[in-house]
This record gives sequence, structure tokens and C-alpha cells, in this order.
Amino acid sequence: MPFRGFDVGEEQHHALSRALSHSASRRLRRLVTAARLVARCVRGLEPAVVGEILQLGLGTITGMGHREVRFRTPRPDPGVVGLRTADDVFLFAAQVPDIGSARTAIDALAELADRADTDTLLRHRRRCGGSGEWTGVEVSASFLGRRNFNRYDAEDAVGRALARKLGVGYHSRRGDAPPPPGHSAWRLSLDGTHATLMLRIFERPLHRRAYKSRTIPGTLHPPVAAAMARLADIRPGHAVLDPCCGAGTLLLEGRRLHPQARFQGFDLNPDAIGAARANAAGLSDVAIEAADAGDMPVGDASIDRVLCNPPWGTQVAPGGLLGRRPSRWWSELRRVLTPDGSAVLLLPDTGDLTTAIQHRLIPVHVQQLRLSGLQSYIVRLTPRPHQPQPVFPRRRPTADQPVSMSPEAPLRRQSGSRRRR
Ligand SMILES: C[S@@+](CC[C@H](N)C(=O)[O-])C[C@H]1O[C@@H](n2cnc3c(N)ncnc32)[C@H](O)[C@@H]1O
Repeated sequence: MPFRGFDVGEEQHHALSRALSHSASRRLRRLVTAARLVARCVRGLEPAVVGEILQLGLGTITGMGHREVRFRTPRPDPGVVGLRTADDVFLFAAQVPDIGSARTAIDALAELADRADTDTLLRHRRRCGGSGEWTGVEVSASFLGRRNFNRYDAEDAVGRALARKLGVGYHSRRGDAPPPPGHSAWRLSLDGTHATLMLRIFERPLHRRAYKSRTIPGTLHPPVAAAMARLADIRPGHAVLDPCCGAGTLLLEGRRLHPQARFQGFDLNPDAIGAARANAAGLSDVAIEAADAGDMPVGDASIDRVLCNPPWGTQVAPGGLLGRRPSRWWSELRRVLTPDGSAVLLLPDTGDLTTAIQHRLIPVHVQQLRLSGLQSYIVRLTPRPHQPQPVFPRRRPTADQPVSMSPEAPLRRQSGSRRRR
């Protein structure tokens, strides 16, 4: 009896059929329970999001695009809302071809609502830790390229169709009034090729952190801080320092990742110190003190990891010693790091790295980001060990005279009077 090209007996034929239908039903079950997810992030953090998804075992990566990572998980579970490097995470709902720029085509977007399998979406959202009921609809749209309609036109076309299908109310964003609590947040993106509809899993965006009760101008976006903390490779027992800690975002993201390390933050601004202390309230292993990053009250070679976005940006100017002598930043950084230590910094450009190298700090990783419309760079630096340099002889050596070698004079005197931690 032929069985897909092989000759088999009747008994074997039945056994094979049973086995095949068994694995087919397993495949089907996997397909029914599998969820397609989309993590949205800051431009440039896509590789960090991929790394975090894989490290947490959240699923398999199916694609990477502009500010997004697509992945598939066989069993949706609340782990996905624990992603720290992503701004937000959504369930993929439906996709149709992009409608182009004509305003008359806008009604075609309603097809996305028809195509979305809302029963499965609700089940997956509940399994991921989100709400298990539909109470109302709000939509946030974005598109690439020029269109003869605005985002509200696109949002209303999809939102009204979704609300009709689900039998709930629709909250338009035209009036700028916030949606009533509990509304389901949908996201629509038109990228020139596809119109994609997604459903947000959690009621609030993932980048909003519960610990951040107080903030300051120029405070860091928590997912960027989380990506920097992941890159820092903090280990149990490490001394971790942010010498310009602001509201403490880097320290708190680092601590969340590595609760067995010790964290210390300095700042000159009393508002920043107050905000960091409030955000770290109750954490005995996070110490915030008033100090100048240009003259840090810590011993030489006493810090394993430095995490910082120094005040070189447009929003915050350097103060204290750093304002008068910016190179103090690099000499102090080099002084406090242990020989196998490292610093992960967020810098507005890479020009400063020449100064870092002059201070024997070697950039081993540089990653470009786009943050609030500006380029920034996450840079990891490690200290280069002090190497004796040959001193050139004054006279040409003769064949029987060896070249004299002497160690290079130290770059700066190591102060023994520094306070130790
Ligand atoms: C870009 S902000 C840091 C933001 C911080 N990462 C956060 O998430 O809130 C830079 C900080 O450096 C501080 N600063 C400026 N000059 C300083 C100095 N010489 N020593 C210590 N901190 C300084 C500012 O007060 C400001 O809080």
C-alpha cells in the first residue's frame, strides 16, 4: 500500500496515519496557543530587546524592524510584561496592505477590525497578565510618508469598526482627553507596505516604572537605562557607581537586574538627590550622596562598574569641577575603576572618546541610538593597564651599547588621602 511514496503494509499504514494525525494535532494545538508579539523600543535598542527576549526565554525572534522586534511565543505568559529594554509590548492582531495616501481609502482600514481574531487576542492578553475583558477601545496610529489624512482619521476608522465588533464604546483621541480607565489600547502602524493592527497587553506602557515617583529635567528613559545596565555585566558583590545620578534611573535599573550588588550615586543638585532618594526609598543597598563627579569621595580602583549619562547634553549643563575642567570626568573615572572594571556611558557624540583613550580608557562597545530626536551613543569602556614605554636614548647607541628602557612617569599621582568606601 503506497504511503506518501513508500510501499507499506496495512498495519503499518494505520500506525503511520495515527502517528501523523497525533503530531498534526500537536502542531495544531501549538498553533492555536502560540501568540505573535511585537516589542516596540527606542531606535537602536532593537538588538538589546532581542537579547533580552532570548535570555528570558520568551520566544523565538521572527523579525526586526524600525523600532520593533517581532517574536512568537508557544505559550503566552506574564514574562513578556517583564521586558525592561522595550517601551511596550503588543499582540499582533491583523495586517492588510498599506492603503496609500488617499483620504478616500481610509474606510479600507476597517478591514483590520474584521480580520482580528478578538477571542484569541483576549485569551492571549489574559495569559500575559493583561485584562480579560473588553471595556472600550482607543487607538493610537502612526505612519511613514505624506498622507492626505491625519492620524485621527486613521484611528477613528479602525477604532469605530473595532468598537462595533466588540459591542463596546470608542474613545477618539481627537479631543486630547485621556481615555476612561480600562480601555483597551490598540496600535495602528502604516509603514508604506503594510497596515498593522496590534493590541497592547498591559494597561500602561512598559517604559513607565512604578519606582519613578520623582523625576528631574534630563532624566533617562528607563528602557535605555535597562539596556545600559544589561551591557555593564554587573556581578554579585560589585560596587556600582553613577557619579551624576540625577533621579537614580541607572542605579535602580541596575539594582533590579542585579540585587546582589551595591549601588552608590552622586549628584550636585539637591533636587536630583531628593528625587533619587525618593525613588530608591526603602532600598538599603542604594546610597545617594551629594558629591562632585570631578572629585569623587571614593578610593582609587574601588569601583567595579560605572553607569552614567554625564551632563554633556543640551538639557543639563555640567556644574562644579566638571563645569570648569571637563577632563576631570575622564581622570576621575580612570582613577576609581578597578583594573578589571568597566564603565557604560551614554554620550551625545563620539568625539569625547579621544579624550577617554588619552586617559587610558578603551571603548570596547559603541552603539548608536536615537533618543528624543537626537543621536546618542551607548559606550562601554574598560581601563587599559599601565604599560611601561621605552624612553628614547639621547645618543645613537653603538653596537655594543644596549638601548636603555625606563618606565613611563605616572600620568597622575595616586592620592593616598582619598576616603575609602
Ligand atoms: C543627564 S542628568 C542625569 C540623569 C540621570 N541619569 C537620571 O536618570 O535622572 C546629569 C546629572 O548630572 C548632575 N551634575 C552636573 N554636574 C555635576 C557634577 N560636577 N557632579 C555631580 N553631578 C553633576 C546634574 O545635576 C544632573 O542631575
